[in-house]
This record gives sequence, structure tokens and C-alpha cells, in this order.
Amino acid sequence: MSQTIILGIESSCDDTSAAVIADGLLLSNVIASQSVHEEYGGVVPELASRAHQQNIVPVVDTAIKRAGISKKDLSAIAFTRGPGLLGSLLVGTSFAKGMSLGLRVPIVDVNHLHGHVLSHFVRQQADDEVPEFPFLCLLISGGNSQIILVRDFNDMEVLGQTIDDAAGEAFDKCAKVMGLPYPGGPHIDRLAAQGDASRFKFAKPHIPGLDYSFSGLKTSFLYTLRDAVAADPDFVKNNMPDLAASLQRTIIDILLDKLSKAVKQTGVKTVAIGGGVSANSGVRAAVADFCKRKNLKAFIPQRAFTTDNAAMVAIAGYYKYLKGDFCRYDETPYARVSI
Ligand code: KG4
Repeated sequence: MSQTIILGIESSCDDTSAAVIADGLLLSNVIASQSVHEEYGGVVPELASRAHQQNIVPVVDTAIKRAGISKKDLSAIAFTRGPGLLGSLLVGTSFAKGMSLGLRVPIVDVNHLHGHVLSHFVRQQADDEVPEFPFLCLLISGGNSQIILVRDFNDMEVLGQTIDDAAGEAFDKCAKVMGLPYPGGPHIDRLAAQGDASRFKFAKPHIPGLDYSFSGLKTSFLYTLRDAVAADPDFVKNNMPDLAASLQRTIIDILLDKLSKAVKQTGVKTVAIGGGVSANSGVRAAVADFCKRKNLKAFIPQRAFTTDNAAMVAIAGYYKYLKGDFCRYDETPYARVSI
């Protein structure tokens, strides 16, 4: 019996990635991160698209070689169509179209956010457990903070989302104020492990329903530091771990508060997390603990699948391919789109 083999291509932000999946089983996942942005303290869109152009051929070639297949074995090519940086998306989209025309296989467009949610269906072993529908997915990244009710592979409803900053932005912006390099999230994670989370108190939002807000926390963090530094110029340097731990604790409390409400509201028994911030040790431990206490099944992704990767694009593309849901060649990328 012939296999369904999907090549996934991800180029929505600053990671060029390609992955190969055969009948839902991961054969390879290659990611080239772009260090060119480090000195600017954030992703520079024009530099990102140029780096994608340099990376895409070797990254796709390596993914196919590592998978132990030939490009002639591919059933389809899945690519991230959005949301993301338009110039970056254009590189992956154009490459996917060109390759598909050359190989005479269909293309499948993937919503990047669906990819994050469906990353839990990437199997590395045939007997890896995957979530059962319906489940809740807490999608937390540099651009999104959403609670999603996932009814099926292509049936998702956003129950709540941030009305201002995303959780990742809260980590990154506060880390920047502390003088940490971009992106600050992983640095806060590392520092928080040695800090006292009860030392500082920062503002928590009072937003009705299941929506999030992180801009008040950012302001409160900024004011705390401003006042403290006025009294002691070395305050930040001398209190890094406690600041990081207290900040991380507050972000986790905000995330868990709404997640808990969503669980109560929906009665759903399975909770998954995804997106870059789901790599955070504190978030992972807190969600696992919450699910244990509430008798819920928790799906915490491997760290390799938390940040942008093509394995999630390939798996989302695989389920669309099975339904014959292909993309036309005149379709273009989109910078903004919801679930
Ligand atoms: O999903 P992602 O790779 O892409 C974007 O949405 O851009 O998420 C990136 C975000 C950044 O804000 C980064 O600081 C955050 O994920 N992040 C973390 C950790 N690892 C990545 N935040 C906290 N702790 C981490 N370990």
C-alpha cells in the first residue's frame, strides 16, 4: 500500500523549516533559525525574507534527505499561508508552488495557527498518543494568546484571546526593560528557576469572559522597576532571578485563570498547550499540575514543536490532503487571519 507523504514548509516569521511526514509519522524536521535579527532586538521583516530565500533550498533538500525519501515520493506539499510576515510567507508559498508544478503534486495551504494546534498530532512513534476531540488548546506565542475549542482538524473556535499584548510579548518586553537580549522569554525562564516568585507583585487584569490582557502587567512591571532603580541604580542587576520568577508567576496565573474558566464552561476533559511560550518550564509545570488536580488529560508538546516548525505544517496539511482540500495556484499569502 502506498504511503501519503507530505512535505511541510514553514516560513512565516524568522525560522525557515521543512519537514516530511509519512502517514502522520514524522520522518524529518529541519529548522534554520535566523541570527541576523539579534542585534536589532526584534525580527526585521526585510532581513527575514532575504534569509528565507537563502535557507529554503538547503533546508528542504536536507529534510528530504534525512527522511530517506526522494522528492518523487511526495504526495503533496503543504506550506504556511499565514498569518505572518508577508515577505517571509511569500518565499515559502512561491517555493511550494514552484516545486509542486515541477513534481506535478498538489499544494495544500495551512493556517499557521491550525499548525500549532495540530502539532499534537505529529507522531514520532506509531503508538504515540494524540488528543481526542473535543479538546481545549491554549495557544501562547509571541503574536497570540488564545483559548481554542478544537472540535475537529478543521473545526476550531476561539473562545478567548488577548485584547492587547500576547503572553510572549509580555515576556519579551519586560525582559527588554531588564536589559536581557531578544527574545527575552527563554532568559526569563532560565533566571526564574533560581528566583523567589513571591518577592514582587505585579498587576493582574480584570477582563470579563475568556479574553486575556497583558499590557497592564507590562506597565506595572515598568513602574516597579523605574521606582526601584531611582532609589538603587543596581536594582535590576541585583534582583534578576526574583524579578524573572515573579513576572513568570504572574503570567502563569493570568493564563491559568482563564484556562480554568474555559474548562468549567465547556466541560472538556483534555487540555493541550502550544506556541513558543509553551516551551516555558513554569507554564508547562503549572498546566500539568492544573490538569492533574482537575483530572484532565494534558498534552504538553516536546520543546522542538513549541516554536515555529514545519512538522506542524506537514501534519495540518496531511489532514487537509486526506479530505482533498487543495490550494489553487492563484491563492496568495495573508498577513492576518484568525483560526
Ligand atoms: O511561537 P513562536 O516561536 O513565534 C512567534 O509567535 O513569534 O513564539 C515566540 C515567543 C517569544 O515571545 C519567546 O520569548 C517565547 O515564545 N518563548 C518563551 C520561551 N521560549 C520561547 N517564553 C517563555 N519561556 C520560554 N522558555
